[in-house]
Amino acid sequence: MNDIIKHLEEDRDRALAQLVEFLSIPSISAEPAHAEDVNRCAHYLAELLKADGFQTSVEQTGGHPAVVAKRIESDTLPTLLLYGHYDVQPAKMADGWKTEPFAPVVIDGKIHARGATDDKGQLFCHIMAARAHLKARGKLPVNLVMLIEGEEESGSDNLDSFIDANMELLSADAVIISDTAQYGGGQPALTYGLRGLCYLEVGITGPNRDLHSGSFGGAVQNPANALTKILGQLVDDSGRVNIPGFYADVIPLEQWERDEWAALGHDAEGLARELGVETLFGETGYTTLERMWARPTLDINGLYSGYSGKGAKTVLPAKAGAKLSCRLVSGQDPDKIATLIEARLKNLLPPGLTMEVVRLHGAKPVLLPTDGIYVESAKEALETAWGKAPVMIREGGSIPVVETFANKLGAPVVLMGFGRPDDRAHGPDEKMHLEDIFMGAEAVARFLELVAIVDGKRK
Ligand code: BES
Ligand code: ZN
Repeated sequence: MNDIIKHLEEDRDRALAQLVEFLSIPSISAEPAHAEDVNRCAHYLAELLKADGFQTSVEQTGGHPAVVAKRIESDTLPTLLLYGHYDVQPAKMADGWKTEPFAPVVIDGKIHARGATDDKGQLFCHIMAARAHLKARGKLPVNLVMLIEGEEESGSDNLDSFIDANMELLSADAVIISDTAQYGGGQPALTYGLRGLCYLEVGITGPNRDLHSGSFGGAVQNPANALTKILGQLVDDSGRVNIPGFYADVIPLEQWERDEWAALGHDAEGLARELGVETLFGETGYTTLERMWARPTLDINGLYSGYSGKGAKTVLPAKAGAKLSCRLVSGQDPDKIATLIEARLKNLLPPGLTMEVVRLHGAKPVLLPTDGIYVESAKEALETAWGKAPVMIREGGSIPVVETFANKLGAPVVLMGFGRPDDRAHGPDEKMHLEDIFMGAEAVARFLELVAIVDGKRK
C-alpha cells in the first residue's frame, strides 16, 4: 500500500489544482440559467476520468446529464459502484459569502467554494484514490463504475428511471458514497441512516387583486393571515408535528442506538453557541442528536406574500404562499405523508379562500445494515487514515438515490463521508479542510485494496 499512499502524496498539488477547476464551474442544478454550466461540468469530469484511464460517457437522463466512468479489470474481481453528485446548491455573494463562491481559494488549509464539501470535494477523494492505484500499479484492485449525477440537489428526479434503464451497466457488489460527514473534525464516521424528504408548496388565493387595506380591511379573509394561522398549527409547542397519522409508521429508535449516541457526548450547548441561538429547540423526549438524525420534522422553508420592500405599504394581498418540507424517518413514505399534509392544510382553510398544493421533491428515508464485509473494510480504512476508529451514526439530510441502491440494486451501501458538520454545506462560505480531502482519498484507496478478492481470497 505504501506505493499508493506515496503517489497520493506526490499528486497533491495537481489534484488540488484540478479540484479548483472543478469547483470553478457553477453547476447549479436548480437554476435554469446555469444549465449550460451543469452540462460543461459533466463533460469536464468525463474528460478528466478518461485521462485517468476510465471509459467514460455523459449520459442523458431527461434532466441534467449523469457521468458514467467504468473500468473493468477482471471478471473475477468484485465491482464497486462509486456514486457522487457534481451539481451544487445556488450561491451568490449577496447571501453573505466572504469570497466568491465559484472562485475557490485556500485559506488556512481549507478550500472555500460552493461544492467544496457537498459534493465535489468529497467525490474528488474517489477520483484521487482510483488514480493513485492506476498510477502506482497500472491497474485497479477491483472493478469500478462511477456514477456522478447532476441533479441530486434538486431531488434526483430522473435518476431512478436512468438506473432502471441501465441496471446492467450499474450492477455492482457494493455502492460507496461520500456525501455525508465525519461526526466531528477528527472523528470519522460511517452513516447507516438518512432521513427522507417530503417537500410541498402551498398557495392561498383570496380577492382577485391586491386591495387597499383601509378600504377593504375587515371585509374579506386576508390570505397571509390565513396562511400563517394554518402553518402555525402544524407544529405544536413541544415540537411535535400536529398532523393526524404523521407518526403512524415511524420505526422507533432502538435502544442500542440511543445508548451509542449518548456515548458520543454531543455538545448541545456548543451547537447553540455555534448557531448563535440562546437555546436549542425540538421534540420533547429526545436528545438533540436523536431529533436531528432519527425523528421526523416539519419546517417552513420559505414564506411570501404582500409587500416586503422598504418602508410600509398598506396592502391586503391577494395571494400568500409557503414552501414547506418534512424530514422523514424510516417507515414513513413521502407520498403518504404528502397526502396527510395536504388533507390537513385543506381542512384548516377558512371559507372565502382557495388553496393549491403542489408536491415538489421527495426522498425515501433509509436504514442500512451496520455489518458485513464492506462496512468492516470501510471501518478499517477510516481507522487507518484518521488514526481513530469511526463511530456509527445516522444523518439528518437526504440522498434520494440511496434507497434505490439499497432496495432496487440490492447491494450493500456504504456511506463514508469525509467532510465536517460545520463545513457550511448549502450555506455561505462552504469549505472543506484539505487534510480531510487527503485523508478521505487515502481511506478510499485503502478501502479498494481491502475489498479486493485475489485468487478467491480477500487480501
Ligand atoms: N450531502 C447532502 C446530504 C446530507 C446532508 C447528508 C447532511 C448528510 C448530512 C445532499 O447533497 C443534500 O443536500 N441532499 C438534499 C436532498 C434533497 C434536495 C432531496 C437534502 O438533504 O436537502
Ligand atoms: Zn447538498
